[in-house]
Amino acid sequence: MERRKFIRLAGGGAVMAVSAVALSAFTVFGVPDSAVAAWQGPAPDTELRRWLLSYALLAPNPHNMQPWLADLGMPGEIVLRLDPQRLLPATDPYGRQILMGTGAMLELLVLAAAERGQRAELQLFPDGEPAERLDGRAVARIRLLPDAALPRDPLFAQVLRRRTDRRAYDPTRALSAADAQALAAAAAALPLRFGLARVAGKGAADAPRLDAIRTLVREAWRIELTAEAPMMESMRVLRVGTAEIDQHRDGITIDSPGLVLLAKTGLFDRSQFPAPDSTATTGQIRDFVKVTASTPAYLWLVSEGNRRAQQIDAGRAYARVALAGTAAGLAMHPNEQALQEYPQMATQYQTVHNLLNAPAPRFTVQMLARVGHLPAGTAALGPAPRRGLDRQLAPEVRA
Ligand SMILES: Cc1cc2nc3c(=O)[nH]c(=O)nc-3n(C[C@H](O)[C@H](O)[C@H](O)COP(=O)(O)O)c2cc1C
Repeated sequence: MERRKFIRLAGGGAVMAVSAVALSAFTVFGVPDSAVAAWQGPAPDTELRRWLLSYALLAPNPHNMQPWLADLGMPGEIVLRLDPQRLLPATDPYGRQILMGTGAMLELLVLAAAERGQRAELQLFPDGEPAERLDGRAVARIRLLPDAALPRDPLFAQVLRRRTDRRAYDPTRALSAADAQALAAAAAALPLRFGLARVAGKGAADAPRLDAIRTLVREAWRIELTAEAPMMESMRVLRVGTAEIDQHRDGITIDSPGLVLLAKTGLFDRSQFPAPDSTATTGQIRDFVKVTASTPAYLWLVSEGNRRAQQIDAGRAYARVALAGTAAGLAMHPNEQALQEYPQMATQYQTVHNLLNAPAPRFTVQMLARVGHLPAGTAALGPAPRRGLDRQLAPEVRA
């Protein structure tokens, strides 16, 4: 008889048989090499601006939407715009986080330019700053100026190695004072306040704050999963299984066999808001409790004010911190939910600002992220998909 695989369904406890033999005839699990080809880096003889952009598009960015469109119409310049179809209005109504991702992208571009003896001069919002909502105007004009004296930045060597790692960390392995110093030093290049609470940091003083942060991020995660518009925004960018991951090369990658099987058999309906008490939602909440309990440190970045240029700077600072963490063998994972500006999150927003001595609205906590070491023996994490440079050039350049 044919070998069968049994799945216990999330909600009703029904059991369904799926033919494992039939499914194995297709490649349905896993991230295909084509979706992560961008992480090979550009060929050495690639034209300078394309070479720089090939590194820049590996930046961390919200929901991996990679909303950047580069216009290479002017020689020696890059004009960067945002694709209005790739914003996240429910979870990021003002585009603050999208601009942080863009800041991270610009920082990688600056590091790559220094590697090639070029000073990347950034003019932010050359046609004026967007008001409450992002618009079609340019975010940055980048001019490249040869500068033989410009030092290279050692953080560049980490660009291809950096990952967002959402797995459990080793709760018994505290960050050292040297780790803390390396992260703070990386952020110091930008005008933001860097903060860190760590197990064994500053005697026992950090422990209550760390506990308060864990409680807060868990509650914020619960709110996000049970608020319809934010949740459905995420559902729309889930990429489940090899074919979808390869087609889109963006969004939230799902390649766990259980969910891929459910999707393939039509039992994971992404057009429906999952009930707050569904097993799918309560399971994610439970998993996040474990993941946050394993976390030996949280870091944050605070700006005084919240201007558009400061949001870009916050992304630049986070990119540098993430690269410094990679160099130090640390894993990192933003937990931005409590910092989001939609109405259901208002209490957590206030709480996190007070907890981190950054009362709103004078201050804005731009980033809050888990940081730690992976447990010994944990396998290396593969990179997240990237759309690749050709899809991120302005249409007239592509033609
Ligand atoms: C401003 C910002 C906010 C983010 N917020 C979250 C978050 O709340 N949860 C999460 O899992 N990842 C978050 N991320 C990480 C992105 O999801 C991640 O960078 C993206 O999926 C690409 O993966 P990579 O960093 O491994 O290249 C955030 C990244 C940025 C820059």
